[in-house]
Amino acid sequence: MADTRFKLNTGAEIPALGLGTWQSPPGEVKKAVSYALSIGYKHIDCAYCYGNEDEVGEALKEAFASGIKREDIFITTKLWCTYHSRVEQNLDMSLKSLGLDYVDLYLMHWPTAMNPNGNHEKFPKLPDGSRDIVSDWSHVQTWKEMEKLLATGKVKAIGVANYSLRYLEQLLPHATVIPAVNQIENHPSLPQQEIVDFCKAKGIHITAYSPLGSTGSPMFTAEPVVEVAKRRNITPASVLLSYHIARGSSVLAKSVNAGRIKANMDLVKLDDEDMKILNDYSRGLEKSGKLVRYVYPAFGVDFGFPDKS
Ligand SMILES: NC(=O)c1ccc[n+]([C@@H]2O[C@H](COP(=O)([O-])OP(=O)(O)OC[C@H]3O[C@@H](n4cnc5c(N)ncnc54)[C@H](OP(=O)(O)O)[C@@H]3O)[C@@H](O)[C@H]2O)c1
Repeated sequence: MADTRFKLNTGAEIPALGLGTWQSPPGEVKKAVSYALSIGYKHIDCAYCYGNEDEVGEALKEAFASGIKREDIFITTKLWCTYHSRVEQNLDMSLKSLGLDYVDLYLMHWPTAMNPNGNHEKFPKLPDGSRDIVSDWSHVQTWKEMEKLLATGKVKAIGVANYSLRYLEQLLPHATVIPAVNQIENHPSLPQQEIVDFCKAKGIHITAYSPLGSTGSPMFTAEPVVEVAKRRNITPASVLLSYHIARGSSVLAKSVNAGRIKANMDLVKLDDEDMKILNDYSRGLEKSGKLVRYVYPAFGVDFGFPDKS
């Protein structure tokens, strides 16, 4: 199952399981990426904002020197919010750190431009402590800049992340290139079914992030996850990661621990009864307005999610 791949609207394939690198600390991320590649991970998810691409680059360099082929590894990185008006510059910064000529996928990390000349390079704030957002630069303009990257050969595909229906509906009428991917927070406590269905209809592949509930993996104790794990005699991690593959999505799991990186490859084909248990739980949360967002609120901007707007 860990070898599953999904086809993107570019014709390229994205490996279903990717290693996440957000919050993977310096001194640990290189080891984590090296180990993951050595045991067969084919997909690494990076971002300029994570501040660790130099170390990821060192791991990639060693992996390629050891015989792993660049074309066999799918590498994603992301445009950061303070660079929306300097798209190619930010891509070049990531490519340099990663030691690559191209990435397989370049994502707009969030559909919000932040002040490029603010009081912080990545997280500028206004005097009242709120995000220093640029109101006269739209995410659609950013996308038009991203479209130009395809001709440079430095990106094989472009996509978005954290796009709600509202943002997708704003973007698509102006897009010459349909995003290949929408990378979103996704787990049974936040199924985002409307976005998943909309993207499927438009040929946009979903990649699920924070599948374990992010820091400390809080989704492990969710009742239906425990139930399916018992029913199938597998771990909660396996349930949570396999859930996305059953939905036709790729999934990113972050770990800097060798045992857990390996364990996260233990994916299974969930059956209809497993999915019913998980989907009934999701629908229950939807109905009662108790969906859980682990990562979105931290960004501090309203992205127009259906249960929020
Ligand atoms: N586009 C975006 O805006 C966005 C936002 C968030 C995340 N992402 C991407 O998605 C990736 C995954 O999401 P995430 O990092 O938020 O969270 P996650 O993968 O859901 O969870 C990571 C947490 O679970 C632990 N863990 C991992 N495997 C485990 C296992 N088998 N057993 C027990 N604990 C385990 C990790 O600790 P250890 O490291 O100690 O194992 C870490 O605390 C990110 O790293 C990033 O690449 C993208």
